[in-house]
Amino acid sequence: MKKELIRIEHVTKDFRDSNRRRVRAVDDLSLSIYEGETFGLVGESGCGKSTTGNLLVRLLKANQGKIFYKGTEISGISEREFAKYRREIQMVFQDPYGSINPRKKIGWLLEEPLKIHRKDLSAEERRRMAERMLEVVGLDKSFGRRYPKALSGGQRQRVSIALALILNPSFVVADEPVSALDVSIQAQILNLLASLKKEFSLTLLFISHDLNVVSYLSDRIGIMYLGNLVEVGRVELIERGAAHPYTRALFSASERESGRGPDEPVLTGDVPSPSDPPAGCPFHTRCPYCQEVCRREKPVLREIEEGWSAACHFPFSVELP
Ligand SMILES: Nc1ncnc2c1ncn2[C@@H]1O[C@H](COP(=O)(O)OP(=O)(O)OP(=O)(O)O)[C@@H](O)[C@H]1O
Ligand SMILES: [Mg+2]
Repeated sequence: MKKELIRIEHVTKDFRDSNRRRVRAVDDLSLSIYEGETFGLVGESGCGKSTTGNLLVRLLKANQGKIFYKGTEISGISEREFAKYRREIQMVFQDPYGSINPRKKIGWLLEEPLKIHRKDLSAEERRRMAERMLEVVGLDKSFGRRYPKALSGGQRQRVSIALALILNPSFVVADEPVSALDVSIQAQILNLLASLKKEFSLTLLFISHDLNVVSYLSDRIGIMYLGNLVEVGRVELIERGAAHPYTRALFSASERESGRGPDEPVLTGDVPSPSDPPAGCPFHTRCPYCQEVCRREKPVLREIEEGWSAACHFPFSVELP
């Protein structure tokens, strides 16, 4: 039986734009993430991926809805109560330049969380653990004596990963962990993440705008559009033939097979503003299959088959062999 690690229930997050208009970044989103899986969150820029990740690690607070970790609601508890979950829930950020303190040596940075959360360790044990962590992410232990500025982007991202893993977390959110890196080193970092995920039996939420990357790494994926999940399911099912027209358009834009013939929908027009979202289905303004009901009624996520759901009034469905 799959065990739920994270449950998001009807979570909504609003911001204000520069004109004080409400921007609905995440719109009544519900999702479960299971122990040991890699869940990939994908969608165009501004669809709410980072906001979702930041809500999960409590960098943001939801306006509505609840988030559960191992069955405990963590969205409503105080910072003090949350402290005991802090080491279990970690994040790797997109920008390894901005997310690492430049004034401290790498070894100091790695030992710092241990000083706070692992008071059982001696100074010597801490140092050894920091060194071991550097080796785990493919860096020589001598990196501990260097400052971040002496490191390349790829090396910094390895340090960020070491920082996220040093407290032996259960759940890691990786928000576009390679998109700030040179293409030539992106694959190295992705493969490192994939192998560490196995080695540390992590549950990973992997966020990227790149469908190829997401489907390569993930067991299940969720496709976001204007703060909504429009399709969720096991990668092999969605690759066989996506149910939502938006997913199909994303697949055809990335030149990946999604199972159907040459008449795949192509994305035209712009994403509507999240400060003025359309009524009905959020995708209806760009959907080639839009019907009257789509302008009126917002579709909810409905199961297509086990392990696969889409929020569409007229989903494609694949005949089973
Ligand atoms: N702090 C903020 N203040 C105001 N608006 C915000 C804030 N953070 C995000 N938004 C808005 O919320 C929406 C979702 O943003 P978010 O960063 O979650 O998208 P994303 O999917 O991560 O995009 P990207 O692929 O560009 O990283 C966008 O319209 C964005 O402009
Ligand atoms: Mg983002």
